[in-house]
Amino acid sequence: MADIDTVLIEKRRFKPPAIFSKKARIGSLAEYRKLYAKAEKNPDKFWAERAAELRWTKKWKKVLDWSGAPFAKWFTGGQLNASDCCLDRHVETWRKNKAAIVWEGEPGDARVLTYGDLHRETCKFANVLKGLGVKKGDRVTIYMPLVPELAIAMLACARIGAAHSVIFGGFTSQSIADRVEDAESRVLITADGGWRRGGIVPLKANVDDALTKTQRVEKVVVFRRTAHDVPMKQGRDFWWHELMQDASPDCPAEPLDSEHMLYILYTSGTTGKPKGVVHTTGGYMTWAHATTEWVFDLREEDTFWCTADIGWVTGHTYVVYGPLSNGATVVMYEGAPNFPGNDRFWSIVEKYRVSILYTAPTAIRAFMKWGDEWPAKHDLSSLRLLGTVGEPINPEAWMWYQRMIGGGRCPIVDTWWQTETGAILVTPLPGATPTKPGSATLPLPGIFPEILDSTGKPCKPDQGGLLTISRPWPSMLRTVYRDPERYKTQYWSRFPGKYFTGDGARFDRDGYLWIMGRVDDVIKVAGHRLGTAEVESSLVSHPKVAEAAVVGKPDELKGEAICAFVTLRSGQPKSDELRRELQEHVAKTMGSFAKPEQVRFTDSLPKTRSGKIMRRLLRKIATGDETLGDTTTLEDLSVLAKLREDEE
Ligand code: WTA
Repeated sequence: MADIDTVLIEKRRFKPPAIFSKKARIGSLAEYRKLYAKAEKNPDKFWAERAAELRWTKKWKKVLDWSGAPFAKWFTGGQLNASDCCLDRHVETWRKNKAAIVWEGEPGDARVLTYGDLHRETCKFANVLKGLGVKKGDRVTIYMPLVPELAIAMLACARIGAAHSVIFGGFTSQSIADRVEDAESRVLITADGGWRRGGIVPLKANVDDALTKTQRVEKVVVFRRTAHDVPMKQGRDFWWHELMQDASPDCPAEPLDSEHMLYILYTSGTTGKPKGVVHTTGGYMTWAHATTEWVFDLREEDTFWCTADIGWVTGHTYVVYGPLSNGATVVMYEGAPNFPGNDRFWSIVEKYRVSILYTAPTAIRAFMKWGDEWPAKHDLSSLRLLGTVGEPINPEAWMWYQRMIGGGRCPIVDTWWQTETGAILVTPLPGATPTKPGSATLPLPGIFPEILDSTGKPCKPDQGGLLTISRPWPSMLRTVYRDPERYKTQYWSRFPGKYFTGDGARFDRDGYLWIMGRVDDVIKVAGHRLGTAEVESSLVSHPKVAEAAVVGKPDELKGEAICAFVTLRSGQPKSDELRRELQEHVAKTMGSFAKPEQVRFTDSLPKTRSGKIMRRLLRKIATGDETLGDTTTLEDLSVLAKLREDEE
């Protein structure tokens, strides 16, 4: 694996607005640098200060035990409970009657749960779980729509020391069965269904089907959401509301060791078989808490909306654990962004006066494609900060987000992290860091990224290489569930002693980080190794393009030739002329070597269920390979058939 070349240089800069910096917790670059240096010099002290922001029933003895590397132990000897940090701590104060969750269902129904409500419901459900025989150390599988009860179920597990394994509601029976089997869950929590684009997602039916493939599950709790008829199996299936009726609201949080397993989250990424990423209590909560406070510069009066589904790590950390441990008000929305109209998100922002919006590039590109008229219909003046996560954001999408959604006034935090990292590692701080569209900018204090070439030597500025993290951090994954070998080989064998992210990246001359795409997706063309992000960003900078994905296909002359799959903005006709125009556009902005040999128009791109483009599948389509390998994580299979039909 050699270097990755860079050709696109972004010159635009955006300073944090002065009024933002004035109030911010970290209000200048100098202040950030001071904190960074402090953490570098005395990491134990830095991390201990962060951990002290939580409530511990027993203080830790040692901050980090790295003697069993790469298996880390953080805050050893300490005890706490994540549910206590998110709930009890607040209900003992005026926050008891503060809104914790402002929820809107897709059909338009709405609920507000205060911290007091959330605490009571969580305690009751924790008692329900106990009644079903769930014990400390057990794993409970949760497969629910985005309703407050999903957060309640997670917090109830945490309260009694059972680990939760949340499965995204878009998965179907085989994926559920595999994950239940791997986690050995005896109890599963689901709902009759959930609402999506006006239809019912048949969650209970999927569970019934999954449970024909595994014998593991003994008890199923079913929350009534859609109220359509679902069969209930006697002795196995129980209604949530019936169990809750007589449950006691008294359930003290169990003090747990810092390294007690909080959850398993299965991640497949864009390649390969799902892995059960394990997070534990003390370290994870410490960094979830601190990053939510710093990165979003969270205020008591904020209305915080992270649009991610709780089935993903972003939802775990920035819908549930991070904001709730900070006592924030979070917005939760059950359904699709384009139901009933393409402006559903903007109507929610307007209605609840959302002040912080955290979403994904894939959503932003969809909004761009749908057109400016949708956000323009709404008053978005309550927004003060925007965030993105999940993929590199193309500079033009960044600019659109800043202008159309942020009204030119809101800083954007482009946050880089992974399921495995537990929380944000690289990001601007909104009151401190000048931003460059498309760059995740600088590492947070305590985080030490290094970009290495294939021999393990640090890359020079603007030289692309492999992104690694050279020191442990508290919210890092602890292992792959029941597969410690995979943990070692996947993350720690590429460069001994360093965590390997799988991403290609470069630092620019200001030390800003640019993610260039997954290393597996790098294209080698005429001696240049190109990350996918730059070529795609070049295409997206053309005014008629909404989204693009590029892959390499074998070429006798050039090694690989670039094949581009392009989605146009709404109303733009496809033509051979436009195809040539786009080829020239890339040649002009990047150099003729990067000119795509093929441009293929498509209405949609194959994506994982969390919205990441699956270039692995596009590569196969580009080369005409019929065997697609594992497609279980693909969001919409019909996309592939269509792409094949579109073949020239
Ligand atoms: C990509 C999501 C560029 C990256 C929290 C990473 C990003 C993978 C960014 C992890 C970003 C995430 N800029 N790329 N701001 N954020 N990624 O596990 O390739 O779903 O390795 O975690 O998403 O995805 P995951």
